[in-house]
Amino acid sequence: MRLILFKITSVIFLALLLFNCTKNSAEEIEPNTATPLTPYTVNVPDYFPKMEIPVDNPLTVEGISLGRQLYYDPILSNNGNSCSTCHNAPESFSSYSANSLPHINLAWNSTFLWDGHINGTLEDIMKFEVEDFFQTDISKLNNSSYYKSEFKKVFNVDVITHKNVEYALAQFFRVMVSSNSLYDKFYQHTANFTPSQMNGFITFITEKGDCFHCHSVGLFTDNKFHNIGIDSVFTGVNAGRYNYTNNPSDLGLFKTPTLRNIELTPPYMHDGRFQTLEEVVDFYNSGVKHSSTLDPIMTKGTKMFGLGLSATDKQDLVAFLKTLTDTTFTKNPMLQQP
Ligand code: HEC
Ligand code: HEC
Repeated sequence: MRLILFKITSVIFLALLLFNCTKNSAEEIEPNTATPLTPYTVNVPDYFPKMEIPVDNPLTVEGISLGRQLYYDPILSNNGNSCSTCHNAPESFSSYSANSLPHINLAWNSTFLWDGHINGTLEDIMKFEVEDFFQTDISKLNNSSYYKSEFKKVFNVDVITHKNVEYALAQFFRVMVSSNSLYDKFYQHTANFTPSQMNGFITFITEKGDCFHCHSVGLFTDNKFHNIGIDSVFTGVNAGRYNYTNNPSDLGLFKTPTLRNIELTPPYMHDGRFQTLEEVVDFYNSGVKHSSTLDPIMTKGTKMFGLGLSATDKQDLVAFLKTLTDTTFTKNPMLQQP
């Protein structure tokens, strides 16, 4: 057992050494509106995938700033809501009450919403949010001399379109990058884990807990869809991706959510059925329900009978999950209400 643990630990450290890590501090540049159209580069650690930016929507300080104003402005809706009503900063831009998905590192997503029914770029999901969900009345923006001049500055348009709104929001979303958690510091050798956090990490990234298969380290999501066995009968919203594809093999499949800032985003799962991370870990340890679409990873080998984690292992796994909390992200001045 000792030898195995030693081997695992050396593999981890080797893997850490192999990566050339650079330090990455949170974005803290205040938008500069004095100089029109200042190109902006997002600071992304090299253990994240490359951020793709559509050629027709380059990042500018002014565009990001406009996107931020729109995010917080109820002018986009017809009922007094703004995006921030259900996506508020301290909760990693989600909301306990609405169980909305957090806005964090979505620049790397190519499918959006729990059942993944929007595919494409941030511009595509913003089209859904603005035109279908909010049904934004664009004349309200065109009647605002303030927004008229802001959009003129950023997109050089005299008449604001839905697409302009979506592009500005997409720019704002691209700077919502979280990469400054304790985990990131550990990964970059600038901080240590406690023995408990370390044990949780090992459970996470080995077959013992097997979490890493879907919550791949780095972004902590594989951006794919799985049935993890929280149900064995699938009706209503619990049918998941099936509701969108009508393919029986998609019954109960949901998008793997990122675990970054997971401490800040209860309740958990698509329907918020678990209140605490302890409940989630208990589920993975001994609550997985079998069905024909259950992901094979969930029952691989001895996992047929659960993970068999001890009480300490479970606590340690939760302790590790909390190392993914990044309050420099939730408090990043560039992302707050203007
Ligand atoms: C009334 C609450 C509410 C408001 C207001 C709201 N959202 Fe959401 N948002 C949600 C919920 C709930 C989900 C998850 C829904 C689902 O997956 O079916 C979500 C999901 C999302 C996602 C998908 C995230 C992912 O990981 O796939 C994006 C992007 C998003 N919202 C952007 C916005 C934007 C932009 C606005 C403002 C234009 C907005 N939301 C306003 C509740 C809200
Ligand atoms: C087979 C892929 C897979 C594996 C393995 C897996 N997860 Fe998940 N995880 C998911 C999916 C998919 C969801 C969303 C399910 C839903 O909402 O119904 C999820 C949800 C979660 C959530 C709640 C996220 C939220 O925002 O509500 C947590 C926490 C979590 N997983 C932790 C873990 C841990 C810890 C492990 C290892 C013990 C693990 N996962 C193993 C795919 C996986």
